Formats: sequence, C-alpha cells, structure tokens
Amino acid sequence: MDAGDKERLAAIYQQTIGAGESIIAALQRLQSEFGYIREDCVDWLARRAGIPAAKFYGVVTFYTQFHLAPRGKHIITVCSGTVCHVKGAARIVDRLRRDLQLADGSRTTRDMRFTVEQVNCVGACSIAPVVIVDEQVLAKQHPEAMARVVKQYQKAGQNE
Ligand code: FES
Repeated sequence: MDAGDKERLAAIYQQTIGAGESIIAALQRLQSEFGYIREDCVDWLARRAGIPAAKFYGVVTFYTQFHLAPRGKHIITVCSGTVCHVKGAARIVDRLRRDLQLADGSRTTRDMRFTVEQVNCVGACSIAPVVIVDEQVLAKQHPEAMARVVKQYQKAGQNE
C-alpha cells in the first residue's frame, strides 16, 4: 500500500465511519475507489476505526454487492435461478467458460476483460434464460447467441 492509497483511505474514513456512517457505506466507497474490497485496505480502515476487521468481513461476505477479487471490465451475469436453470442456463455458463477460457474455478479472464458470474433469480422468469451483460438484459438466451455476444465485445475491445 502506498502513500496515495493511504490518503484515499483516510478520505474514505473521514467521509463515512468518521462522519458517523456505517461500515457498509465505508465498504461501498472502498470498492468504488479501488475496484474491489482489498484486504489491506479493510485492515487499514478497521485499525483506523478501532473496529475488529472481522466485523468488516462479516458485512463483505453477507452482501453480494461486495467483491473480494478484481473483476473484469465486462460483467456477464447468468441467471441460474430455477426457471433459467430448467431452460438451459448451465449450458450457457459452460459455453461462456469454454469460449473465455476460464479454467478451474476462475471467474475472470486473464486479460481482465470479462467476469462471468451466476446469480439466483433476477425476477424476469418470463424471458428465461436471462443473461445480463454489464447493464444490458438479454432475454431467452442460448449458448450460440452468447458466443456471438462475447465475440462482439471482443471485437469492440480490439479498438479500445
Ligand atoms: S430464474 Fe432466472 S429470471 Fe427467474
């Protein structure tokens, strides 16, 4: 952790916990500043606040909005709730993992361009199976359609 990180953390502390706000608010700021919940940052905040780090991690692990590892530029969220599962969500996930060469349990590609995540019902069962790419909701998906979407993003990425 460098001096710049410490300065950013001090600002986060002052504007959240130091101002009477919750641990959740501090963690949201931390994630938005650093991209994910960095362990060394949590430890710094916990020490500064005089609150056990375990309390912070309790919050981090309770809420799905927090991420303990860096995520890719594009987030592909496959709904794996019951209806989407019955309509083939697992095949979509398999295809995505194969096309993006995600080995073992990794969710993010090595080039940090894509992260593939699975969630429970996103509340749009009538258009299952549902995939959300960044903010875009894609209805009635199937493996080949997803392969095309990934290719489009990869193509677009070559020009970035
Ligand atoms: S199960 Fe996927 S939207 Fe409901």
